[in-house]
Amino acid sequence: MTTISIRRPDDWHLHLRDGAALKAVLPDTAARFARAIVMPNLRPPVTTTALALAYRQRILQAIPAGMQFEPLMTLYLTDNTSADEIVRAKESGMIHGVKLYPAGATTNSDSGVSNLGHCVKALEVMEKVGLPLLVHAEVTDAHVDVFDREKVFIDKIMRPLLQKFQGLKVVFEHITTKDAADFVIAAEDHIAATITAHHLLMNRNAMFTGGIRPHHYCLPVLKREEHRQALVNAAISANPKFFLGTDSAPHARSAKESSCGCAGMYTAHAAIELYAEAFDAANALDKLEGFASIYGANFYGLPVNETNITLQKTAWTVPESIPYDGDVLVPLRAGQSIAWKLA
Ligand code: DOR
Ligand code: ZN
Repeated sequence: MTTISIRRPDDWHLHLRDGAALKAVLPDTAARFARAIVMPNLRPPVTTTALALAYRQRILQAIPAGMQFEPLMTLYLTDNTSADEIVRAKESGMIHGVKLYPAGATTNSDSGVSNLGHCVKALEVMEKVGLPLLVHAEVTDAHVDVFDREKVFIDKIMRPLLQKFQGLKVVFEHITTKDAADFVIAAEDHIAATITAHHLLMNRNAMFTGGIRPHHYCLPVLKREEHRQALVNAAISANPKFFLGTDSAPHARSAKESSCGCAGMYTAHAAIELYAEAFDAANALDKLEGFASIYGANFYGLPVNETNITLQKTAWTVPESIPYDGDVLVPLRAGQSIAWKLA
């Protein structure tokens, strides 16, 4: 197959940042996706409905003329998120999920949840009104090996959480392990997962090819090849619990190429093309549309998009860098080729 047309996809996990950074990255996403679930880990974090609605307006203002894009907003859960705030979020009609960052797990997560016991009231309302919990599923205990933090989270946090809130809709975000894929397959239908393009395309060797590769560092960190293969199998399985979420997470080059580099890969410049490459490599291009354009919308109770995009199997070279807020960012595959191109 050298050309495919699919319904316009949506990105169910995206970091858009704010200000000049937002203006720099938004066109890449809007060129490919109709909608995106926008992560709330700004500084300060998007902890209230009022902040989320104001952020939404800034995103709408940053959409280039002639492009269409709908931001789907999220709230940042804290130890202090009230039940009333959840009700306000749901009633706004603009907020589609509440993000759980265990405090200290990743970029701008210091205001995250220290103990889910503090969030019982908020979670009860989310369960009642059907507002999904979007989970960064890694424990933060310093003594747990970085590569095991997702697996440990499943038993220590995820299982007890689902046991206590049996009707809560949960998205296990950016899964990286076979353990997570197996867990989601076995879970109830209101438990789903997003999978990034980079976790489908690379294993942890990519962080150390010929030297340390800061642009291949993200959280949860890349895992062994057997885990990558399990993620590919989940993505191409046509199981509606697994859908597209890029976790495209821009950081300036100076913040990545540093003695303490930030976590996150920028993939929005070629997101659907990278997924096409991964699905093509698995001989499963016929499964791309469900994963990219249908299952996520169904999970979130939103209509699927009515327009299409076309992808061609034509190699192109990714730019070495992209201007970013007075600096540059280094996109995934910088200076290298991608096999699929957006028509
Ligand atoms: O690699 C990551 N980058 N993982 C996250 O969870 C956060 C994200 C970011 O905001 O940079
Ligand atoms: Zn993320």
